[in-house]
Amino acid sequence: MEIRTDLYFGDCKEELKKIPDDSVDLIFTSPPYADQRKNTYGGIPPKEYVNWFLPISEQLYRILKPTGTFVLNIKERVVNGERSTYVLELILEMKKQGWLWTEEYIWHKKNSYPGKWPNRFRDAWERLLQFNKQKKFNMYQEEVMVPMGDWAKTRLKRLSETDKKRDESKVGSGFGKNISNWLEREMAYPTNVIHLATECNNKNHSAAFPEGLPEWFIKLFTKEGDTVLDPFMGSGTTNIVAKRMYRNSIGIEIVKEYFDMVKTEMQPTELILFEPNSNYEKTEPKRRKTIR
Ligand SMILES: C[S@@+](CC[C@H](N)C(=O)[O-])C[C@H]1O[C@@H](n2cnc3c(N)ncnc32)[C@H](O)[C@@H]1O
Repeated sequence: MEIRTDLYFGDCKEELKKIPDDSVDLIFTSPPYADQRKNTYGGIPPKEYVNWFLPISEQLYRILKPTGTFVLNIKERVVNGERSTYVLELILEMKKQGWLWTEEYIWHKKNSYPGKWPNRFRDAWERLLQFNKQKKFNMYQEEVMVPMGDWAKTRLKRLSETDKKRDESKVGSGFGKNISNWLEREMAYPTNVIHLATECNNKNHSAAFPEGLPEWFIKLFTKEGDTVLDPFMGSGTTNIVAKRMYRNSIGIEIVKEYFDMVKTEMQPTELILFEPNSNYEKTEPKRRKTIR
C-alpha cells in the first residue's frame, strides 16, 4: 500500500481549491484563534473571525466525503472580561452552509497552567466541534474503547431496579441504557471528554497540539488508507500521526518556516507492507509541543 502525504504552502482559502470534491475522510484542525499569536502568524480580530472562516469552511464542505467528518479544535477567548461569542456565531453560520453540528467533544488539558484571576479560574479545556454533511457518517467506535476500570467494581456492583431494565432515553431518541448489560464486560465506550496533557516544550512551533488528540479522532473516524486533511498544519502534528497510522494526509501551511520544517521531516510517499490489524507505533507525547 502506498501512503501519500501532500503538503501545500499558502493560504488554505486558496490552496483548498486545488483539492477535488468529496475526496477527504477526516478534516482535523486547529486554526489560529482570534487575535492570538499576532507576532508569529497573524491574528484575526474576533469581530472578523466568522467572515474570515466561512470561505474556508465552504471549501472544506466541498472536499469532505459525504461519509466524512470535520473536527474543529477551537476555544473563544476572554475580551474585556467576557467570553467572546465568535465560536457560537460560527456554528450558526456553518449550519447555514449546510453543515450538521453533530457533536462537541471536550479536550480536558490535564496539566493547564496554574494561575489566579479575579473573576474566573484557570482555563483547562478546549472545544472539538464535530461537523458532518449527513447524519450517517463513518465512525469506528470499537477503536476507542477504554477499560471498564473501577466503575465496574463500584457503580456496577450496586445496581438499582431501573438500572437492570432498559432505561428509555428521556429525550425520545429511542436509545436507552441497560447498565447490567455491561457487568461482565472489560471494555466500555468512552465519554466525549478527552483527558490529555498539553505539551509545553516545543521550540519549533508555539501552538502544537498533543499527538494523542489527532490520533484519537483518526482512530474514531478513519481506517487505514483513508485521507486526513489539516488546512492549518503548523508543525504537522496531524500529518505525522496520520502517516504513522497508515492514513494518507494533506497539510496546508501559510508560514514558510513551518511548511519547510514539515516538508523536511516527511517523505511525500511511502510504501508500507499492508497487514490487517496493523500495530502502528503508538503516540508518545514527546515529539512536539504546544502552539496557539
Ligand atoms: C494553531 S496553529 C496549528 C498547530 C498545529 N495543530 C500543530 O500541532 O502544530 C495554526 C497554524 O495555522 C497557520 N495558518 C494561519 N492562517 C493560515 C491560512 N490562512 N492558511 C494556512 N495556514 C494558516 C499558522 O501559521 C499556524 O501554523
